[in-house]
Amino acid sequence: MTAKGSNVWISELSHTFKKQTKPTLKNINLTIPKGQLTALIGRSGCGKSTLLQMIAGLLIPSDGAVRINAHTVTKPSAKWNMMFQKPSLYPWMTVRENAALGLVFSGTYNDKKDRVEELLDMVGLAEHKDKNVQQLSGGQQQRVALARSLATEPEILLLDEPFSALDAFTRSQLQNEVSEICHNQGITMILVTHDIEEAVAMADNVVIMSQNPGEIVGEMEVKLDYPRDRSLEEFNTLKENLFNEFEKIDLAKQRSVAESNA
Ligand SMILES: Nc1ncnc2c1ncn2[C@@H]1O[C@H](COP(=O)(O)OP(=O)(O)O)[C@@H](O)[C@H]1O
Ligand SMILES: [Mg+2]
Repeated sequence: MTAKGSNVWISELSHTFKKQTKPTLKNINLTIPKGQLTALIGRSGCGKSTLLQMIAGLLIPSDGAVRINAHTVTKPSAKWNMMFQKPSLYPWMTVRENAALGLVFSGTYNDKKDRVEELLDMVGLAEHKDKNVQQLSGGQQQRVALARSLATEPEILLLDEPFSALDAFTRSQLQNEVSEICHNQGITMILVTHDIEEAVAMADNVVIMSQNPGEIVGEMEVKLDYPRDRSLEEFNTLKENLFNEFEKIDLAKQRSVAESNA
């Protein structure tokens, strides 16, 4: 399928929050190709969520810009959708009602009712459509949120550690399914994670960030077939390489802190 997703360009982006002296993000330059899954990986606090919110138009950088298909992002758009760690569903509604919300808000639900049914089937909730979302497990609730995000046919799906609250089995299953959906539907996906295995399991390209300030310090392509076989030697070598990159980053930071204190 040809990719209908968007290209994202981030150029010379830096950000310092109000009342702070040091930048949270510094000099970020990144191209995210359409139809691919890009993972942003880094330690807690390195600025991943901040960067994702800037791509979504929820935060404006103090310097530089995010461009999507050559347009500078200045506000949120229905063309890109954000999904968080907590599925943020309405507890009094059914699975179907929650999944349909984006379409209801945009006034297109009546035309696209079938799409909601298909998506709920696709994410494995065929038998749960009439249930109240509170009757579902955490993994099933995250599937509802995924169906809701996909229902509005976004060009870009932004995922902020969406699986970190799930058990290991559900997590790896959803990682496989979501990367498959992304590629089958030609959606550009940007995944924020601190989980090395998640990045290698899902991404075409892994972007490595350091902290204080948040900077891009490396990139790693993952050229393995989907769904990825986690028992493959190549898979585990890539995991090790990524882990080693983080050790190098830590050493380099320690050195530069020592130098600036000297
Ligand atoms: N609204 C804000 N005002 C001030 N500082 C913030 C704000 N949001 C985040 N930060 C700080 O920016 C840094 C990066 O945060 P965040 O983007 O959430 O990191 P990550 O998602 O990588 O864990 C943290 O030090 C955090 O405390
Ligand atoms: Mg975060």
